[in-house]
Amino acid sequence: MANATFDLLLTGGMIVDGANSPSFEGDVGILGDRIAAVGDLRNAVAKLVINVAGKVVCPGFIDVHTHDDIVVLVKPDCFPKVSQGVTTVIVGNCGISAAPLQLAKDPPEPLNLLGEKSDFVFESFRQYAEMVEAARPAVNTAALVGHTSLRVKHVGELSRTATTRETASMQKELEKAMAEGSIGLSTGLAYKNAFAATTDEVSQLARVAAKYGGIYATHMRDEFDGILEALEESITIGSEAKLPIVISHLKCAGPKNWGRSGEVLAAIESSHYHDHLYMDCYPYNAGSSNLDLNQVDEQVDILITRSDPHPEQVQKLLAQIAQEWGVSQREAAQRLMPAGAVYFSIDEQDMRAILGHEKVMIGSDGLPCDPHPHPRLFGTFPRVLGKYSREEALFPLRGAIHKMTGLPASIFNLRDRGELKSGYFADIVVFDPIEIRDVATFESPNQKSIGIEYVLVNGVITFRHGHTTGERAGRYIRNSSSTN
Ligand code: ZN
Ligand code: CU
Repeated sequence: MANATFDLLLTGGMIVDGANSPSFEGDVGILGDRIAAVGDLRNAVAKLVINVAGKVVCPGFIDVHTHDDIVVLVKPDCFPKVSQGVTTVIVGNCGISAAPLQLAKDPPEPLNLLGEKSDFVFESFRQYAEMVEAARPAVNTAALVGHTSLRVKHVGELSRTATTRETASMQKELEKAMAEGSIGLSTGLAYKNAFAATTDEVSQLARVAAKYGGIYATHMRDEFDGILEALEESITIGSEAKLPIVISHLKCAGPKNWGRSGEVLAAIESSHYHDHLYMDCYPYNAGSSNLDLNQVDEQVDILITRSDPHPEQVQKLLAQIAQEWGVSQREAAQRLMPAGAVYFSIDEQDMRAILGHEKVMIGSDGLPCDPHPHPRLFGTFPRVLGKYSREEALFPLRGAIHKMTGLPASIFNLRDRGELKSGYFADIVVFDPIEIRDVATFESPNQKSIGIEYVLVNGVITFRHGHTTGERAGRYIRNSSSTN
């Protein structure tokens, strides 16, 4: 292409296209919010030319599992995300979405992971989408509708199954949200406010999501001893409703289940529905959520990330707090609640087996409201690229990038994103393949990663050499069959 004019030209980078193709040295030309050309553009003219020789140029990362529903509105610079190369977040996971929900009382668990009562002001999904557009977050946002949020709005008593009538109201609400641009339904069936839902209650809803080309993302009913039964239930729901399934943060939780990843992955591979079955995973041997007494077993180490009555105990192990107080861990946990926790309940080998599986995408599951969060909030994507691809060779770099770009874009139906291709949106990351690594740790989690050089969102340079530029060019992404 001779003398083409671009707004921005990235020259001499190692192009990794997100589609899992072999990398090659080349240039990327950007015009407006789109990629205009990829290849040998040495004769091209551009308003701004950046030499990125020796660096990897790839699509922006898609964080498929987040709880950033409210944070994209209240902290729109999205620093934990852009600083690790994330350009799109999927919000509304684990059955909890901010919309469509207005709250006059404290958010029932685990909705409190998203924000406070005053944050839930969304009468409709459309209103949420409009508020995201008005807030102009730095990253693109696509949203699932949470089953628990629908229950809070339409089911009289969360500890029981929805009646036929309540299910019909939830279906109606979901139908409206899908028409207004949601990309699917999520559940968090392990949590007490959703646990009473029957398989049928969920599949009635999943059918509505399917009508609009949505997906079904599920934090399964059981990630512990009953994981295979829970997987079976997820498959029943997805296959009855005929829509793609994403098993959220797949793990074999609890020491009794360590070593079972092979069995679980084999069950997925041999499922009649396996062509429509995908998973996400975070690259750590610990999970995080609200502090839950059922998980206080004196075996698994538990780190306190948040405590309303005892903020001074945050960042300590529950065992240590219990010892200092001269009480059992259970008693200490009761005194700390409401609280948040990290549970070291995952075996590294299981996590690696899952992370390396070809159908597994990357989802941080970061909790943006914790004062001392799980390090996955800041470190997930560079950790996959640095520790697991470069250092441990769990997968080649292009495979790692595919898991965080092209694969999720196709499964979540994010049109024209996830690949470096002419005509696609210019969501782009430039990083140093030798330097890239996560810095956030369990001891010191609020730390940005190293090695991310540039992050472009819809053609706009949003992050450069360790700092945000102050630009915020994220969009709200609607499903392709929505009516507006
Ligand atoms: Zn979850
Ligand atoms: Cu989650």
